[in-house]
Amino acid sequence: MKPFVIALDGPAAAGKGTLAKRLATHYGFAHLDTGALYRAVGLAVLKAGQDPSDPNAAAAAAQALDPATLQDPELRSAAAGDASSKVAAIPGVRAALFDFQRRFAASPPGPDGRSCSGSVLDGRDIGTVICPDAPVKIFVTASAEARAGRRLKELQARGEKAIYARVLEDIRARDARDAARADAPMKPADDAVHLDTSDLDIDQVFDRARLLVDRALAAQRGA
Ligand code: C5P
Repeated sequence: MKPFVIALDGPAAAGKGTLAKRLATHYGFAHLDTGALYRAVGLAVLKAGQDPSDPNAAAAAAQALDPATLQDPELRSAAAGDASSKVAAIPGVRAALFDFQRRFAASPPGPDGRSCSGSVLDGRDIGTVICPDAPVKIFVTASAEARAGRRLKELQARGEKAIYARVLEDIRARDARDAARADAPMKPADDAVHLDTSDLDIDQVFDRARLLVDRALAAQRGA
């Protein structure tokens, strides 16, 4: 049977990452934070002293991406976040990262080198481009203000100096860039379920998502 896929898409700091980790743990699925791929490319370009908007530099960094860099704590910095949405608009970057994501979903890596029976991928284009056949697609949103408040806490916890107004501005700029790009723009798949997390805590978000996944798993077993 084909591995099960949960596709989580939505804007920055909407709560996709936390939800993805909880779902992956609950179902014993592999998790891929696809934003980390774009952050790693953006950070590599910055570290090389190049411009993240330069198509040649960014595509070359994507082709040379070392999966070991996906664990770098610097990926969560504001600078890496900003660079990531610039490199993400470059088609050569998206093409270079496409196969990695597809392979992950087709053969989700599990412990001891064995495959898991499913995966959770979170990003912007999972339900539309990477896994358009995913049996569960959730578009996770929250107001820009709620998201900026969460991102501010995350940055402060990392010891970065950050102010709310600036974080809100960055979130809005990144939303606009991600939604406006020509190649794989951020948008809900036609068959995605929308989940607004502005006024929900993580347990409530998890419970709603779990209902959708349980239903889809039961449908697959019954098919
Ligand atoms: O989710 P996160 O904020 O870590 O993503 C960083 C950036 O990577 C996003 O702003 C977006 O530009 C890009 N991205 C993307 N497609 C994905 C995941 C992330 O374009 N599937």
